[in-house]
Amino acid sequence: MGDFFQSVEQLKGELENELEIQLAQANTAGEIELVRVKFLGRKSPLIQHLKQLAEFPPDQRAPAGKELNILKTAIEHRLVEKKQQVLTRPQGPPLDVTLPGSAVVQGRLHPVTQTIHTILSALLPLGFEIVEGPETEFEYYNFDALNIPRDHPSRESFDTFFLDQPSPDSKKGRLLLRSHTSPVQVRVMERRKPPLRIVVPGKVYRPDPLDPSHSFMFHQVEGLMVDERTSFADLKGVLERFVRTLFGEGTRTRFRPHYFPFTEPSAEVDIACATCQGAGCSTCGRKGWLEIMGCGMVHPNVFKAVGYEVRRVQGFAFGMGVERIAMLKHGITDIRLFFENDLRFLEQF
Ligand code: PHE
Repeated sequence: MGDFFQSVEQLKGELENELEIQLAQANTAGEIELVRVKFLGRKSPLIQHLKQLAEFPPDQRAPAGKELNILKTAIEHRLVEKKQQVLTRPQGPPLDVTLPGSAVVQGRLHPVTQTIHTILSALLPLGFEIVEGPETEFEYYNFDALNIPRDHPSRESFDTFFLDQPSPDSKKGRLLLRSHTSPVQVRVMERRKPPLRIVVPGKVYRPDPLDPSHSFMFHQVEGLMVDERTSFADLKGVLERFVRTLFGEGTRTRFRPHYFPFTEPSAEVDIACATCQGAGCSTCGRKGWLEIMGCGMVHPNVFKAVGYEVRRVQGFAFGMGVERIAMLKHGITDIRLFFENDLRFLEQF
């Protein structure tokens, strides 16, 4: 039976060799399991040899059995070892703690958004609440309810983007992209009774060709205050307070008579040019003043449209262009810079 012992010895050499070759190629726990089945599974040469042991007398069985069990334990160890290696292997390149760190790029708000926040923060302490309205609007809210008659030039498609989509409510006219934030005045007054103090930030659209001061999309902030008694003095008080918060306490303002269909009387608010202090320069087009918003007392026809009792309420409204204010505050000379996504520009804010 020296033969059997010899074949065990031979098996030992072969298996140890072969195990290393196959383990070198096994890189996952699954692959290692396949190797285990091959070397320790029921059909493996090692287990087959162990089974044959029974056929030999005890004196021969002992040394061969001892050898086989040592071999089996060695293979088991080797498999566990390799599995540990695979499971604890670091993913990716080795960690070099001496490399300089990579900085996290910190994002920030777009300058237009920052300006909207600044405008709103100046108005919230005066008791205004923030409201928003849809950018896709009915002709009724954008024009009719705001006392803009059908033959008014701004109703021509030249000044407004009309949508091809059929209107879901023919009584409210066609659908369009709102050309100002004033329609939100009407939407809010339709739903709520005075007293009201609201500010409305949002996007507006006009089919103007792009140039340094025009964009087909820009932002406005609208304001509306309605109560039983609200006078032009209140309007002036609120807007002068607002302008000083925004542009500095020493800023001079001027209310210049103007026309808007939805306010009467109406005015445009100018601030003294910060560059020339009113003397006239290239920033203000030699006027000494910069226009920053439109405003006025809410027109009785607007109150009628929303079902308010005209004799019982008074109110004022104002509307300003956000990009224009951001340009004045930061000395930006081209509105297109806001929308080109050039980081060299955006990173300055
Ligand atoms: N809606 C006007 C505009 O687009 C601005 C405005 C708002 C004027 C409120 C008066 C009152 O230009």
